[in-house]
Amino acid sequence: MTIYLDNAATSYPKPEEVYRGMEAFVRASGANPGRGGHKRAVEAEGMINDTRRLLARLFGFSRPERIVFGHNATDGLNMAIKGVLRQGDHAITSILEHNSVSRPLNHLEQDGVISLTRLPATAEHLIDPDVVARAFRPNTRLVALTHASNVTGTIQPVAAIGRIARERGALFLVDAAQSAGVVPLDFEQDGIDLLAFTGHKGLLGPTGTGGLVVGERAPVRPWREGGTGGDSTRPVQPEEFPHRLEGGTPNIFGIAGLREGVRLLLERRVASVLEHERALMKTFVTALKSPERLQWYGADKVIAERNSEGRVGLVGVNLPGFAPSEVGAILDEQFDIAVRPGLHCAPYAHKHLGTFPQGTVRLSVGILTTADDMCRAAAAIDEITAG
Ligand SMILES: Cc1ncc(COP(=O)(O)O)c(C=O)c1O
Repeated sequence: MTIYLDNAATSYPKPEEVYRGMEAFVRASGANPGRGGHKRAVEAEGMINDTRRLLARLFGFSRPERIVFGHNATDGLNMAIKGVLRQGDHAITSILEHNSVSRPLNHLEQDGVISLTRLPATAEHLIDPDVVARAFRPNTRLVALTHASNVTGTIQPVAAIGRIARERGALFLVDAAQSAGVVPLDFEQDGIDLLAFTGHKGLLGPTGTGGLVVGERAPVRPWREGGTGGDSTRPVQPEEFPHRLEGGTPNIFGIAGLREGVRLLLERRVASVLEHERALMKTFVTALKSPERLQWYGADKVIAERNSEGRVGLVGVNLPGFAPSEVGAILDEQFDIAVRPGLHCAPYAHKHLGTFPQGTVRLSVGILTTADDMCRAAAAIDEITAG
């Protein structure tokens, strides 16, 4: 059986509850929510709203109707960035960002709509709140940062940065693609205004799910306008949430799966998922016979000696003498181990690590990864480095 260590791309396999929840919903209900007002439509609407309530609990957010569904985190990030920024605004971002943050911001900058500051990271791959504070200008409207980097695995100090953004009157957008369901977070206490999440990674749902949590301070213009299943008389998108940002038929089958994933996380507790991931990373590093043969970019000591403090369960390494793509292919073809080599859609982060343009080999664990998986991955890497 494949050893799947590409959970940062999408979690796999999904817990049984997710498969069963999707199948049950597809067979028993499956109508277009709200559209008809018949029993099945109402049931579908109820399922979606139930998922919003569960997500609100998970994120420490008191307004479930302001959790808007879209296709993935990319969709949520585009909704936020394009829905908030206006001509003449300044935005602050960082080199740790995924292209789903960098590209929409770069595009707005190239079009002359906004000015943009891209902050560096420290040697520990963190965004320093003091550096964020110094980057503010009178016209700064948005601070857009990742919560956990998909390249370095480091968890950013969002609460400290949220406080600064709030003091300066700017909005704080957090990309929680790698942290939702893995790192405990509290939307309100952490001073977040907009939180983009993807449903198919740590939240354990299927692909095609995700969205945006919209705090009350954030006025977001709709960028996807269309039918909302409710009042069709209005010439433009309604003001009310979630319909304001949810034009079009939602992915009900996907959301039915996501609901089960979130339910499971609430039962199991996010903090225990993080503990599980950190224990697995430690197993990997300590199981390697020759860890010194790998390039770690600072991660090995933190994982082995500090229990992965400040990190989620992913690590990027390189094997001297091998391109990351070669290592990925060898692990796949000779050992049936799935990892992700390359730039991970985060070119600036790899420039910071000094690994651009070839990237690293990323191993990422999930809720169903076992210690045995990690030992087998370590043995395979030892075999490759031993030649
Ligand atoms: C940090 C980060 N942000 C955003 C995304 C985009 O997620 P999605 O492809 O689900 O939109 C990813 C996906 O890998 C990610 O790791």
